[in-house]
Formats: sequence, C-alpha cells, structure tokens
Amino acid sequence: MKKSLLSLGLASVLSVVSVASFADSAVMNDVTTGIEAKTGKEIYQTVCISCHMAEGKGAKGAGQFPAFANNMRLMAAEYPAYIVLYGQKGMPGFGNYLDDDQIAAIVNYIRTSFGNDFKPDFTPEQVAKMRKPDADYGTLD
Ligand code: HEC
Repeated sequence: MKKSLLSLGLASVLSVVSVASFADSAVMNDVTTGIEAKTGKEIYQTVCISCHMAEGKGAKGAGQFPAFANNMRLMAAEYPAYIVLYGQKGMPGFGNYLDDDQIAAIVNYIRTSFGNDFKPDFTPEQVAKMRKPDADYGTLD
C-alpha cells in the first residue's frame, strides 16, 4: 500500500520534471523548474495531491500522509516551507524542482485551504533565506 501510493506520487511528479537539468546548480534561487504550475492550487494539484489527497485530508493505512485540514503545524509558515524544500522521511524534498515563488505559493495555499485560515503572507524572499548554498534537497529518482 505504502509503496504503491509513493510510486504513484513520484510518477506524477517525474512526468513533469527533468531531473538531470538541475544537477549542476549550486544555488537554486534561479532554478528554471520543470514543474510549470504557478499558483498554489495548480502546484497542489500537480505535485502534492497524489500523497496528501484532494481535500488535504491525508491518508492513513500502511502509509501515513498527514492531513492539512485543521493542522496547527501550519501556523508557522517556515515549517511547511522547510518540509517542501528539504523533505522529511517519506516525503521527498522539492527544493530542486520548485522555485522560491512556487514554494511561497504552495505554502500560502495549504495555509489558507482545507478549512485553514492562516495569513497568506509568506514571501519568496523568506523562502530564499531558508535555502543554503550547498543544500542537498534530494532528488525524486
Ligand atoms: C510522495 C508523497 C508525497 C508528496 C508528493 C508530498 N508529500 Fe508532503 N508528506 C508526505 C509524507 C509521507 C509526510 C510525512 C513525513 C513524516 O513522516 O515526517 C509528509 C509531510 C508533509 C508536511 C508536514 C505535515 C505535518 O503535519 O507535519 C507538509 C507541510 C507537507 N508534507 C507538504 C507537502 C506539500 C506542500 C507537497 C507538494 C509540494 C507535498 N507535501 C508533497 C508525502 C508526500
């Protein structure tokens, strides 16, 4: 179950990403991403939905995909931003695939969707500060 959900998620991401083209960039702020989606909603539906589900309810079973609905951990925008950049356990990092505008957009989207009502005030500049020059964001392969 977990395995099939994970590979589903990765397959949908990989279909729009060219992994190799990012390998040589040390600083990713100007990354030209293979993920075309611009708005938070589009990014959610392209990248996040396969694991976190359409209503942001997450999924339980052999694999645990946290829900975003009523999730107080989204209160501080840095937390979801960090996880989207660097990944955590079963979630891959997207720091190589999403640029600062896209990460700010997806963070603001999940913080204002699924019943959440936090301020959508996270900026690309704040994302940039969370990137480290030699960061290892991981890859999706
Ligand atoms: C391949 C599946 C997968 C994809 C794709 C994915 N996630 Fe996750 N995500 C997970 C898993 C698994 C966890 C739990 C990680 C852990 O155990 O700490 C998680 C955790 C999170 C958390 C922390 C939630 C909490 O309550 O602590 C956030 C925030 C998050 N993901 C946001 C996103 C966003 C935004 C996207 C799209 C850009 C995304 N994820 C794409 C699998 C995924």
